[in-house]
Amino acid sequence: MNSWTFIIVAGGSGKRIGGTPKQFRQLSCMPMWMWSFKLAEKLYNSGHINDCVVAFPDEKIEECRNLMQGIDIPTKFVKSGFDRRDSVYNALTVSDHEYVLIHDAARPFLTEDLVLRVMNETSSDTGAIPCIPVADALKRTSDDNSLKVVNNSDLFRTQTPQAFPRKRLMEILSNSSEKFKDEAEAWMDAGYNIRQVPGHPQNFKITYTSDWDLAESIARPFSVTRTGTGYDLHPLIPGRKLVIGGIDIPDFPLGLEGHSDADILVHVICDSLLGAIGKPDIGVLFPASDPVYKNIQSTVLLNNVIDILKEANWVIESIDVVLHAQKPKLQPYSYLIQRNLDRIFLEFGDHSPVLSLKFKSGEKIGSVGSCECMQAWALACVSRTERLY
Ligand code: CTP
Ligand code: MG
Repeated sequence: MNSWTFIIVAGGSGKRIGGTPKQFRQLSCMPMWMWSFKLAEKLYNSGHINDCVVAFPDEKIEECRNLMQGIDIPTKFVKSGFDRRDSVYNALTVSDHEYVLIHDAARPFLTEDLVLRVMNETSSDTGAIPCIPVADALKRTSDDNSLKVVNNSDLFRTQTPQAFPRKRLMEILSNSSEKFKDEAEAWMDAGYNIRQVPGHPQNFKITYTSDWDLAESIARPFSVTRTGTGYDLHPLIPGRKLVIGGIDIPDFPLGLEGHSDADILVHVICDSLLGAIGKPDIGVLFPASDPVYKNIQSTVLLNNVIDILKEANWVIESIDVVLHAQKPKLQPYSYLIQRNLDRIFLEFGDHSPVLSLKFKSGEKIGSVGSCECMQAWALACVSRTERLY
């Protein structure tokens, strides 16, 4: 059986669309390049390819490697080059396999079926590419600005992935000085055969803003949003430190009673996040009966919860928290708490959600109003891309 490397070229600067290079923009719940990478993972899991190589700008390699947690495919990252040919060449040099599929990161909606059809047409002396017939009537402008009809019946638009025997393609690219738009042009220029398979209209390349808008509307149904709630109550007792949102609140004679540091605000955040993804609450995941959790900082538990979400590809969109406490006045600490939580989300989750903190007094009524306890509620919203094709 032939062995294959799936190469994703993601080194462009996206001049025509402008702004952040398009392959790193968030399309639904993940950066655009990840859509192709997810398909590579699927092809690897079904035994069709052996590994993946991604060509990135040097400064992005570390950041993108971090996004790969939980993704199970042998992958190499290489530095992209000044032009597409250099990016492809760098990727070819680190592959050990007989055949390569070269795919644009700018085509997020590739299908497994199309890849398999391209692979089937490739052999030791023949490359294969997906093509789409040109459907629109074509015109050419002349020097005098008049339009001339162009016969479109034998014209095709070329897509990726383009498949080739690796060593021969390397030879061709290293010997060619011409600027080719894709690998197929260089391959054909060297006199080798190429076969075409019908491409897929959805496998279009995102080049302009209008393509991006279309991609967003296609990607939206893949995005799933869930919400979860958290509720907690802790008694206030003398002789305990009061910790709220990971911040020690000074000059108050009472603290919250609990097995951990009893940080009620962090507890409700954890429970709302776990609830959103259908997991049991922190009392079950980190039980008080386990001595490991005695007096533990609740922010450590929050790190663990963020890890659980991250491993399952959930992105935390927003968390809305209400803390019901008579004393002390917590609003003055709001900025510190917010900054501390933002830091944790950024450090452990690569993403800072919209976080809203509200502090309400007990109006001197009931157990909160008499400083017997504090209560808190949180509502979390999370999302992820749930399925591809
Ligand atoms: N590419 C690459 N290395 C380069 C240039 C392009 O890996 N030096 C990749 C792009 O990231 C993209 C594909 O080749 O996945 C070609 O698509 P294109 O639309 O040309 O992407 P850009 O070059 O980024 O966009 P533009 O031409 O508008 O600048
Ligand atoms: Mg380009």
